[in-house]
Order: sequence, then structure tokens, then C-alpha cells
Amino acid sequence: MAAISVRDLVKTYYTAERRGFIKRRKVPVRALRGVTFEVRKGEVFGLLGPNGAGKTTTIKIITTLLLPDSGHVEVLGIDVIRDPVRAREVMGVTLSVERGFFWKLTGRENLKYFGILRGLRGKELEERIDRVLELTGLRELGGEHKLFEEYSLGMKARLALARAMLHDPPLLILDEPTLGLDPHSARTIRSLLVRLAREEGKTVLITTHNMFEADLMCDRVAIINKGVIVAVGTPAELKARIAGRLGMEFLVRAPPDVDVRSIVQKALGTAEVSVEPTQEGLRVRLVIRPEEEEKALERVTEALAVVGGRVRQVRVQEPTLEDVFIALTGGGGVEAVAS
Ligand SMILES: Nc1ncnc2c1ncn2[C@@H]1O[C@H](COP(=O)(O)OP(=O)(O)O)[C@@H](O)[C@H]1O
Ligand SMILES: [Mg+2]
Repeated sequence: MAAISVRDLVKTYYTAERRGFIKRRKVPVRALRGVTFEVRKGEVFGLLGPNGAGKTTTIKIITTLLLPDSGHVEVLGIDVIRDPVRAREVMGVTLSVERGFFWKLTGRENLKYFGILRGLRGKELEERIDRVLELTGLRELGGEHKLFEEYSLGMKARLALARAMLHDPPLLILDEPTLGLDPHSARTIRSLLVRLAREEGKTVLITTHNMFEADLMCDRVAIINKGVIVAVGTPAELKARIAGRLGMEFLVRAPPDVDVRSIVQKALGTAEVSVEPTQEGLRVRLVIRPEEEEKALERVTEALAVVGGRVRQVRVQEPTLEDVFIALTGGGGVEAVAS
């Protein structure tokens, strides 16, 4: 039996769009278009995709916070739609936007409150609180007796994880657990999650838009784009799908009104281009065959010169997960933050 089984999830949101003065029109947003994947017991599984891909929607459906239009989800064999109460017992959940903590209570007091809601009492409750404070490093950081309102973002993320682990659930389901965190907190959380899977047999499902993070900590990854899973496998398997090809990266300066992505796409006759703004300029990444390297450099340099841009740096590397993503989706909207 799979730890988490997700089949054919479809979800459409309706947003009201103003038309004219009073009239409103309902605009459908198709967030999920038939999402299917399975998470095995004891693995760290990453749902990887750019912003807007459908990651949070998928997590909300799995964790009973949102109903799909159609499709099925089982957690340890429990149907989350038919039996949400039982399903919640086996899941510990954090969402990227953390709400619901009490600002005027300390970390320990917050955990006590949520532990009682979970049905924990007395000595067992105190022991569980000690354990999760220890595991998340909150005790070491002085978070136990600090008011929540004085917490840094990293401490808030740790407390959210501590709360998710309070009732010692076999499944941990975390939406972008390291989003926006300082590198130290991000590293602590990643290594804790991997350790929980390896040493305690927990099953961990995270979402991330960070290719580096997925590669680093996930046993298997599903790549989601525009509401569809486009690939599933170990990071190594996914990289093998573009074996023999290389990742080529340009650092580019161009006038602000220039659409660098489409210029590079046209120059090379390929869609497999991602563009990301960085502090030093635009980072343009392509997937190429080794013999195409020189030609690509020439063409990109020329095409950019025509519009007043220039190439400042070029690098060619073994393919990364990001390159798999670019090759599978054409690279639209990819973000790869190395932290
Ligand atoms: N409450 C909502 N109302 C309308 N559209 C939404 C809502 N939540 C998400 N969406 C849309 O659904 C799509 C998927 O969003 P989401 O699941 O949050 O993606 P991700 O977590 O991968 O960034 C996006 O196009 C987003 O704008
Ligand atoms: Mg999200």
C-alpha cells in the first residue's frame, strides 16, 4: 500500500472579474488537470514546480482543507474525502502561509494549546513538546520561552514543523517548508526531514519550487507544471532523461523592455530556455547537445547585440534537475534558487 495515493485530481477555481462598472463575470482557473502520483512509505517525496503550478492546491486537497472537483486521495489507505477525521490523525501538516499561532504566547505555550486540541494530555503532552522543541532546534535557539511575536521567520517555520509533529503522525506533508528562510534554518529543516524518514520511517511529502532543494533531499520527485505532472522519478533518473546533453548558462545584460527569452528562443530555434532575474543580470539557461555549444554562444551573442544587450558570462555544466524541467516544460516560469 502506498503512503499517499493521489489519482486524477481536478480542481477549478472561479474568480470574479470586474467587467465595466457593476457586472462581474466568473473566470475559471484550472488549477489541477488530472494530477496522479504515489508516495511510498518512508520516502522523502518532492512535488516540484514553479509558482502557480498547482502544488498548494494539491497539498490542500490531500490534507482535507479543500475538496477537488473530482479525483481520489488515500493516505495510508484512508480515503481523505470520505473519512477526513481519520485521515487528519495520520498527517502532520504545515502550509507556507503560517497562521493560527498566538502572538502573545511562547513557543511552548502555543504547542501546549495545539497538543491539547489534538487530544494530548499531562505527561505525554509535556514529553512530546520537549521532543519536538529539541528536534526542530527551537530549544537551542531559545524559542521555548520566547513570545511568538518575537520569533524570526526561521523560528516560525520550525514551530510550524514542531506543531505538525506533535501527535507523532506517520505522514508529514509540508508546503514549501523552507520558503524565504535563512540558509541555516533551511538546512536544519531539510536535514531534520530526511532524518525523520531514515531513522523513524516517517513519510515526508514536501512541495518546493527550488530544484536544488529537491535534488538535495528528495528520494523521488514529481515535476508539476500548469496543473499536470510531467515526470516522476529519482533525481538521478530524471537527469538521465536528458543524458548526453548539457546545461548552458548565460549571464546577460539587456535593456528592460527586451523579451530576452523569446529572442534567445528564436535565435536557437528551441523552446527550452529559462530566464531568471538575478542581482548581476538575467540568468538564461538552455539545454544543449555538446556539439551545439559554440553555435549557441555565437547566435545568442549576436541576437542580443541587435537589441542592445550583451553576454557577460557563459558556463556549461552537467545537467541539473532544472535542466530536466526546462527540457520537459520549455522552461516557462522556472525559478531555481540556490540557498
Ligand atoms: N483561491 C484561489 N482562487 C482562485 N485561483 C486560485 C486560488 N488559489 C490558487 N489559484 C490559482 O490556481 C493555480 C494553482 O495555484 P497553487 O496551487 O497555489 O500553485 P503553487 O502552490 O504551485 O504556486 C494558480 O493559477 C493560482 O493563481
Ligand atoms: Mg504554493
